[in-house]
Amino acid sequence: MKGVTLIAHPLVQHNLTRLRDKQTGPQEFRRVLSEVAALMIYEATRSFAVAPLGVQTPLARARGFRLRHEVVLVPVLRAGLGMLDSILQLIPHARVGFIGLKREETTLRANFYHKSLPPDLRRFEVVLIDPMLATGGSAVAAMDLLAELGAERVRLVNLVAAPEGIRHVHAHYPDLPIFTAAVDQKLNEKGFILPGLGDAGDRLFGV
Ligand code: PRP
Repeated sequence: MKGVTLIAHPLVQHNLTRLRDKQTGPQEFRRVLSEVAALMIYEATRSFAVAPLGVQTPLARARGFRLRHEVVLVPVLRAGLGMLDSILQLIPHARVGFIGLKREETTLRANFYHKSLPPDLRRFEVVLIDPMLATGGSAVAAMDLLAELGAERVRLVNLVAAPEGIRHVHAHYPDLPIFTAAVDQKLNEKGFILPGLGDAGDRLFGV
């Protein structure tokens, strides 16, 4: 699908399968989600802009690079938290913003309950993190907020995406790059991804 990078790395797929398995309990789910997030972030940040930077080694001058823009990681609560720590270990200088969104069970509308972000996102590379992209309502609501705050460089990192969610997000934000470990078959009548992995938030936190 256009604008979607499917991360087919064997370690990612191995871990995704552990996460799909209903026998995987919260303790293992947390560990494996964290591991898979670290693997995915390499691919998801591959196109970060860099600027040339010269340094002096102990022996000579060397040409190198630095990231051109500051990075802000934005997990969508709750499930996005499960991917945050391991990504933060790889990008320790990143700032972290939070977006709290809860999908109403009947209407599937995503409602905000928390927002905490840098006020001007124009100068950042923004990584929006949520394991699940179902209807896409949460991702579009999160993107609306990021756009309001001036974000110009955003990428969305999911673990599992439904085709319906990808279409919905790209109908609103056609240029938003989406990185995912799987594009699943479809949504069921309750808006859950099939085959998916269930409710990522519930499985992470056991609630
Ligand atoms: C789930 C999931 C996504 C969202 C996806 O969160 O973690 O954030 O739903 O659905 P959508 O694409 O149809 O909007 P939920 O609202 O259940 O909150 P939780 O993470 O606290 O469980």
